[in-house]
Amino acid sequence: MANRPLVAPSILAGNHAHLADSLSVAESTPGIEWIHLDIMDGHFVPNLSFGPQTVKDLRPGSNLFFDVHLMLDNPHLYIEAFIEAGAQNVTIHTEPDYPHLDTLAKIRQLGVGCGICINPGTPVEDLKPFLEHVDLVLLMTVQPGFGGQSFREDVLPKIETVARWREEQGYSWRIEVDGGVNLETGLRCKQAGADTFVAGTAFFKHSDKAAFTQTLQG
Ligand code: DX5
Ligand code: ZN
Repeated sequence: MANRPLVAPSILAGNHAHLADSLSVAESTPGIEWIHLDIMDGHFVPNLSFGPQTVKDLRPGSNLFFDVHLMLDNPHLYIEAFIEAGAQNVTIHTEPDYPHLDTLAKIRQLGVGCGICINPGTPVEDLKPFLEHVDLVLLMTVQPGFGGQSFREDVLPKIETVARWREEQGYSWRIEVDGGVNLETGLRCKQAGADTFVAGTAFFKHSDKAAFTQTLQG
């Protein structure tokens, strides 16, 4: 079953001295319901972003759905901290070695949604053990670490495969894409079966954010 299309602006693309302002820009854009918060540890990805305290400080000023993407080697060590800070969905990666299923179960036990994510080079089959345990499947359309990269077309067939699995097996999780998503690539991902579009650079640089949002969510 497909879900209502949603754009999730990534404040990684915002000004990190004024992230609350970037959050407000997203919040004041008609149609925006989600915000995507990219958490990076400098190990799993070659960059650092921000941590639970930043999320906690952003939380009171926003009614948006906090979609937290943990690009961490040890996400299981940070689940409580991000959920206490206000995360409403927490997405973890298959690639690092930690107890994935226990971590997904723990996220749900703490009362929020959970997601599983693979990088562009990871086989789509690596998602299979988790599909009955998640609320969201995230397919990276760039190698994670930095905003502003070019969309990886080779991920499109993986979106189609996951969308087919969702139909065949009667799942209802969201299919989210993240990285290099703009109007053109976003519509191609939507065509392939994605319904949740993380957009950092394309959203925050767009002159008409409402039109951008309407085009992908329409
Ligand atoms: C991983 C990050 C980025 C970010 C989106 O590097 O997850 O993909 O959210 O970046 P843009 O939309 O600027 O490519
Ligand atoms: Zn992300």
